[in-house]
Amino acid sequence: MGGLESPDYASHDSGAHEPHTPVFTGAAKRELDELITRYPKKMAALLPALWIVQRERGWVSDGGMAEVAELLELTPAYVKGVVTFYTMYHQHPVAKYFIQVCTTSPCGICGADDVVKSLLRHTNTGELGVPSPDGKFAVIEVECLGACGFATPIMINEEFIESVTPENVPAILARFA
Ligand code: FES
Repeated sequence: MGGLESPDYASHDSGAHEPHTPVFTGAAKRELDELITRYPKKMAALLPALWIVQRERGWVSDGGMAEVAELLELTPAYVKGVVTFYTMYHQHPVAKYFIQVCTTSPCGICGADDVVKSLLRHTNTGELGVPSPDGKFAVIEVECLGACGFATPIMINEEFIESVTPENVPAILARFA
């Protein structure tokens, strides 16, 4: 499943304190320029611009926020406010495969807690939010993922997987080996 991981995984678990290297050069800059043409104002491209930063680097650093702010003619504080509002933007390096599990009540009733336990065990993470020793996996609980009829849904990076059970967790994880 190599296509699901960031092309710049090496920076996922490093670089938190290194100088910012611009994201928007070459193809990424062209992608942003094209995105901006779709909206009446540059600032409307903020969310997808941040998504590009996260896709390229695995997370959104202060340097990435400042770069986006400059390109979209916003203040860094405004961009930071948006990044901190949405939990899907990572504000620090994360594991190669970031697993989000819905544990909101409807999924909870259907056994989401046991899915979480199985994920923690089979990823060797042991604890929510803590990366596995090899840096490969991290598991967090999230609110409703919008698939309440298909408990338990999880997201592994950008891949959405429904009807996860404690028993089928190993087979799912094997696809990311
Ligand atoms: S409550 Fe779990 S997807 Fe909605």
